[in-house]
This record gives sequence, structure tokens and C-alpha cells, in this order.
Amino acid sequence: MADIEDERFDFVVVANRLPVDRITTHDGSPSWKTSPGGLVTALEPVMRANDGAWIGWTGTADDDQDAFETGGLHLVPVRLSASEIELYYEGFSNDTIWPLYHDVIAQPTYSRRFWEAYVEVNRKFAEAAAAIAADAGTVWVQDYQLQLVPRMLRELRPDLVIGFFNHIPFPAYGLFSQLPWRREIVEGLLGADLIGFQRRADAGNFLRAVRRLFHVPTGHGRVELPAAGEGRWPNSMSDQPRTVVARHFPISIDARSYVELVERQDVRDRAAQIRHDLGNPSTIMLGVDRLDYTKGIRHRFAAYAELLAEGKLDVDDTVLVQIASPSRERVETYKALRDEIELTVGRVNGEYGTIAHSAINYLHHGYPREEMVALFLAADVMLVTALRDGMNLVAKEYVATRADDDGVLVLSEFAGAADELKQALLVNPHDIEGLKRAMLTAVHMSRQERRTRMRALRHRVLTHDVERWSKDFLDALAQLRPTESAKAAAAAE
Ligand code: F6P
Repeated sequence: MADIEDERFDFVVVANRLPVDRITTHDGSPSWKTSPGGLVTALEPVMRANDGAWIGWTGTADDDQDAFETGGLHLVPVRLSASEIELYYEGFSNDTIWPLYHDVIAQPTYSRRFWEAYVEVNRKFAEAAAAIAADAGTVWVQDYQLQLVPRMLRELRPDLVIGFFNHIPFPAYGLFSQLPWRREIVEGLLGADLIGFQRRADAGNFLRAVRRLFHVPTGHGRVELPAAGEGRWPNSMSDQPRTVVARHFPISIDARSYVELVERQDVRDRAAQIRHDLGNPSTIMLGVDRLDYTKGIRHRFAAYAELLAEGKLDVDDTVLVQIASPSRERVETYKALRDEIELTVGRVNGEYGTIAHSAINYLHHGYPREEMVALFLAADVMLVTALRDGMNLVAKEYVATRADDDGVLVLSEFAGAADELKQALLVNPHDIEGLKRAMLTAVHMSRQERRTRMRALRHRVLTHDVERWSKDFLDALAQLRPTESAKAAAAAE
């Protein structure tokens, strides 16, 4: 086989992170383990069938790792310095775009230094993709950290077919317009042929931003871009008029892998053990989130604490288990959130806990998928109370796990999953009274109603899995590939 450094690939995924984690094997040697995320599961077969490669950061600063292969995947690391991680990843990605795109739940930082690093790092990713993509290949760029890559890549390699998928929300223009670099971001995205969003509303917000900023027509999710230099459209984009399609493709999970885990006796035994260890309460409520201010963990705790205070729930027969996995711990807003959440847990437990029972069982760890599935199986009520969330895959994971057609999902209407999971108990997490009512409804729901709702939810998740998501996106992208006759006609003009 050719040296991977010289290889060209027909299908290239570009994402902030590589889909692997560095591990140390039993004999002490370093190795890689595929991360359990749904994206890699969905794309692995496509990558194998199409001679694919994945470009991304290893997660370590100043890592000189060369391109390598593991588990049949071709992986191409992009080296990020400590300063780039601080300014591009922690800064512009997670302290500017993340809060802005989640409706300014936290105040975004608008820093020119962050922006400059974002441009430079996006250029690195674009150059890496331009260097390894085969002639007329397909490149699929992922997420908000890399919004400038589509345009940069098109300038370097006009022969490529380029897709982009935004995993987080896209805000209304009234908020997006705060961004000092709003034109550059939209121009960056419009370098793609197809731009995918989670919700119809996200695509609508993006198209409105295009109209407001560039005054180009955008009917039926199609942006008709004029040739370079015409109207308000920048010179460098393309000599020819181009069409860009923007629409929603709600992402999902690898549902079958959850069903397979539930079938394992050791996983079921672990679920029973968890119930037992929690003192066999009548109701286990569960929250599973990255420790992020968008997740509404505070609102969930407030509603639960009020129900305890009012005597509508009792710690002797109810417990709330909150898994909060560590995330972006060097960003100030995340540090402050951790302090606030942990103070609240202490207060609620101090106020309502007993020697035998805590009110909130709080765990600041990530867990392997087996343990998560056991927790989902043990939980009577799943609380997803995000204030804003692109999709929220935890909601879908809970549903996929409940092969027993039991359990109640309380789901925020501000999570993308609410567009599909309509048989959940939908809540506005800002409305604490409404949230309390939904929690009580979940606790007291009849077995018959739980079964009816869960069956409908499971049907949706099992028939709309992540494989279907990637197929829908890539099929739509393939349809936008210019035909030979269109290319010849453009060349003749
Ligand atoms: O979907 C949002 C997202 O930022 C993904 O891009 C990422 O995989 C996940 O959340 C975790 O975030 P991070 O890579 O910052 O740890």
C-alpha cells in the first residue's frame, strides 16, 4: 500500500477532533481506541467503502503525531499549539460561537485575538483537506469550530464537492448579527455545496442571515449566489454563479448498538445493582449531561428541590442521579458553572438528605457506554432540560435503551430532539412550575401510558438512526455534484 502521507482519498471527513482517544495498552505502549461517538460509527462504513480519511486534532497540544491507520481508519492529525488551543478552541469556538449560537445563555467574548487564531487554524484544516482529497473527491466538514473551512477549501480546490454539517443550533439573526465577523462566517459556510442543520428553524435562521447580509435570493432552501464581484458578493468566491443548498438533517445515534447492550445479561444485572445500591427507591430520576450551562441542570435542580420542599417528592423513595461529565474545564464560564452546580448539590443534600438517602446523587465523571445503558435501564424518569441544544443525543440514547417500553422522558422543547420525540413530556425548562408538573406527571404515569409513549418514541429512534442521517446527507450532497455536461458548459462560457 502507498505511504499514507502520499495517499489521496475520495472521501474526507474534517472535524475538530479525530474519532480516537490515546490509550496505554497493558504492556505500557501507547495506542489508539476508537471513541464511542455516533458520528464515527455512522461514517466508518462510508469511509471503508469510499477510501476515506478523517482529519482532526488528537486532543493533545503540540502533538507531532504523523498520519496513521487504526481499526481500518486513515487518520490525519492537525497539530495545534497550546496557544492555538487556548485562542481557537477554548476561545473563539467555545467562548464566542458556543454561547452566541446557544442564544447567549452566557455572554460571548468578542476578541480579535480569538478571531485571528480561528482563521489561522481553519486554514490549517482546509490546507490539510486540500492536500489529501482526490480529484473531484467529497469532503464533509463538521461543526462550528470549522465554519471557514468550506470557503477556504473551495478556493484551494474548486474541483471538490463540499458538505458542511452544523451540530449545534444556528441562532436567529437578531443574535447572530452581534458577531463582528458575521459576514466572514456566512461566506465561509457558503463555500459548501450543502449545509446541514439539526432543525428546520436553524436552516431558516441561516438563510435569513444570508438574505440580510448579502441580499441574494434563498427560496426553498437554495441560495442562488451570483458570479464573483456581482452585487454584495465577494470577488474571490467563484467565477460562475453557484447554488448552495441549506436544509435540516436531524442527527441520531447508532440505535442498534444500544439495543444490543440492553440484551446483555451483565448490563441488566448492573442496572439491578444500581437500583439496589440506591436503596431500591420507587423512583429514580436521571440527568446525563456534559457539565455545560446550556443543559439546564440548575433549572432541573430548582424544580426538584421545590418538589422536595413542598413534600410532593420524598427522598425516602425518590432520588435524582446527575451524571455531569467534565467538559472544557479551562474556560471561565465552565469553571463558574461547576462551582455553582456543586454548591447547589451541597445545599439541596444538606437541606433534604437523610443519613440513609441523598436527595441528589451527583457524579462528575464520564462513564463507558455499558454503564450508561445500565443507568438508563435503571432510571424511571429521564430529565433532559436543556435551555438550548442542537439535538441532545442522550434523549435518543435513553429511548433506544428502553426495549422494555418503560420509562418516561421529560424533554425540553429547546432541544432539537423535541422536533422528533413528540411523545415525550415536553417542557419549557424556564417555567419551573411547568417543569415540576411534568416531573410529577412522569412519576405518577400509568404503566399503560408509559408503554404507549415509549413505543412511539422507540419507533422513531430505531427507524431514524445515525446511519440513515449520514446516508440522507451524503445522498443529497451527491445530487449536487456537477454533471460532466454542466462542467463542459461552464468551461465553454
Ligand atoms: O456537538 C457539539 C460538540 O462541540 C462536538 O463538536 C463535540 O464532539 C462535543 O460537543 C464535545 O465537545 P468538545 O470537543 O469541546 O469536548
